[in-house]
Amino acid sequence: MWAYANSCPHRGTPLDWLPDRFLARGGRHILCATHGALFRIADGFCVSGPCAGAHLRAVETERRGAGIFLAEGRHRNPQMPLG
Ligand code: FES
Repeated sequence: MWAYANSCPHRGTPLDWLPDRFLARGGRHILCATHGALFRIADGFCVSGPCAGAHLRAVETERRGAGIFLAEGRHRNPQMPLG
């Protein structure tokens, strides 16, 4: 299971425009609140904005009990498909 780091590849600022609000209108892309870059949800690829062509950093997560936690030290190559 994967999640994206809350950090835009353009300037490293948080993506959310309100606490825990990440999706652009329509819910099809992740929106960077700082300069409006749009990222595909499926693989974190930036489809428009100042970092077009870059990827969000995906990190592996694991379920422990009722919570979901980052798996220590596990980062994926942004070019690899999620799975
Ligand atoms: S910091 Fe995200 S688009 Fe500029």
